[in-house]
Amino acid sequence: SVELEFVMIKPDGVKRGLIGEIISRIERKGLKIKALKMIKMSKEMAEELYAEHKGKPFFNDLVEYVTSGPVVVMIVEGPKAVQVVRKMIGATDGAEAEPGSIRGDFALSKARNIVHATDSPEKVEKEASIFFKLDELVDYDYLH
Ligand code: CMP
Repeated sequence: SVELEFVMIKPDGVKRGLIGEIISRIERKGLKIKALKMIKMSKEMAEELYAEHKGKPFFNDLVEYVTSGPVVVMIVEGPKAVQVVRKMIGATDGAEAEPGSIRGDFALSKARNIVHATDSPEKVEKEASIFFKLDELVDYDYLH
């Protein structure tokens, strides 16, 4: 059951110099990076990514935050990749997230929580397709 997962390092993660730390954790875990780039998200892209939160009190702040600077987006692959990455990232609120998780180690806030990953396998294609075309996924073998 090899899966794809969409991961995004948010502007606070980029601005705090955590790109390498986060990518390194993903690599050390053994997940394969299939696509990777840094971009500045448009308001439209942010609203699409977070469509399910439209109408919530934090929606406007969330869109402003994720468009406030560059993000690093990637598609990673591995067994149960969604579950594995969500566990590595930790709970939404950095103050609640387990030590050892990315948010548990680097975040204290719910709104500024460094990293995003799709929360269910059914939604990966939808979120990834906001940022990547199919031909941007690179096929190669990992050394084990
Ligand atoms: P993320 O995993 O990217 O998915 C939705 C995001 O909304 C979440 O991380 C937080 O950044 C943000 N968010 C969720 N709940 C709240 C909240 N109560 N207040 C502010 N931001 C929130």
